[in-house]
Amino acid sequence: MKILVAHGVNLDLLGRREPAVYGTMTLAELESRLAADAPAIAAAAGVKDLKLSFFQSNDEAEFLAALSGGHDGAVLNPGAWTHTSLALADRLAALALPFAEVHLSNLAAREDFRRKSYSAPHARGVVYGFGYASYAAGLLGLLLRLKAP
Ligand code: DQA
Repeated sequence: MKILVAHGVNLDLLGRREPAVYGTMTLAELESRLAADAPAIAAAAGVKDLKLSFFQSNDEAEFLAALSGGHDGAVLNPGAWTHTSLALADRLAALALPFAEVHLSNLAAREDFRRKSYSAPHARGVVYGFGYASYAAGLLGLLLRLKAP
């Protein structure tokens, strides 16, 4: 099973970007940790052939194009595009790509504008507020749903 893990705008700055909100883990560290945890997450979901690929862009067109990469599902953190992008919502609706939406921070405890997600209605589920663990939990939830929809 091929799963894309895609991070949107400004997530390249993790580690030095508002560490009180997003933590001190860099994007490279987050991806290494998820790759290391992936076999256990796959085993917990009963998935034998998990292949993760990682992608980050600050260019919305590139991010949208990456969603058409022939994956079986995706773990998406669209960053601020979550709250602004009708183009992202339209593409997710068009592709019908099964995905988990994840966010490091607790969106419910932040500014009002972060409570609106254009992408969440198209997601299988949403996890936020657990830092790195939002990605791990989102991946587990997605795999379980793909195995037994
Ligand atoms: C974020 C939350 C968004 O509101 C913000 O714009 C981000 C990061 C998160 O992971 O907590 O860039 O998606």
